[in-house]
This record gives sequence, structure tokens and C-alpha cells, in this order.
Amino acid sequence: MSGTEEDSASGRTTHHIGPVDDLQVGESLLVEVNGIEIAIYHTENGFFAMSNYCVHQGGPMCEGPVTGTVSQNADGELTYDSTQKVVKCPWHGWEFELETGEHLSRPQYSQPTYDVETRDGELYVVW
Ligand code: FES
Repeated sequence: MSGTEEDSASGRTTHHIGPVDDLQVGESLLVEVNGIEIAIYHTENGFFAMSNYCVHQGGPMCEGPVTGTVSQNADGELTYDSTQKVVKCPWHGWEFELETGEHLSRPQYSQPTYDVETRDGELYVVW
């Protein structure tokens, strides 16, 4: 498949992005689908996608690093959690949970996310 394919039963649309091998672990990619800029990340946990337009002031999320995050435990101590993956906006550092797009402390400012699928060595974004 190439281009865009609509599934009338599910109402979802599948958009072909390109070969999986073009996006190595640790890399991100900016694509435009139907006029929407989408940042795609390849991590050791798989592929993830969210709006490239940061909900704060429009920073380019595709340029943000995927990292762990600092959180406070029950005793008030700050600890670095490498298991919770976030994307940090490069402009002002807001952190969004990689899988859900949720802002860690202000969920009302969450990023739209998209499903990513791989088939036969090709990458697709689905919504
Ligand atoms: S534009 Fe993203 S944190 Fe400000």
C-alpha cells in the first residue's frame, strides 16, 4: 500500500509514511499528512507519533529529545525515572508522555497522538 487508505468499517485512515529502516532507534522524523505536521519517534519500545505543534506556543516537537523524567517520591525526594519516557519540547521544556501525549503536570495541555503501525517493512500513521 502507498498513499492513504480509508477503512469505512472502522472510520480510520491509514497513511503510508515510508520504509521502517529510514527511522532508526533514537531518531525522530517530521512528516506532513493532510496538512498536519506529525512527529514520529522510534524508541527501543517501538514507534510513537504526536502533533509536531507544541500546545504551549507551537514549538517543533520533532526536535525534542525522548528522555526519562524527574519525579518526586512520597518522601519529597526528586528521582530520575528512566522508565517513564517523555518528549521534551525544545522551546520551553514542557514534557509530554510519549505514548499518550499527556503533559505530566497539566493534563489539560496534552498533545494529540496518533497510532503508528508497521507492515512488510513499511511505516504507517493511523487515525
Ligand atoms: S512551545 Fe513547547 S514548551 Fe513552549
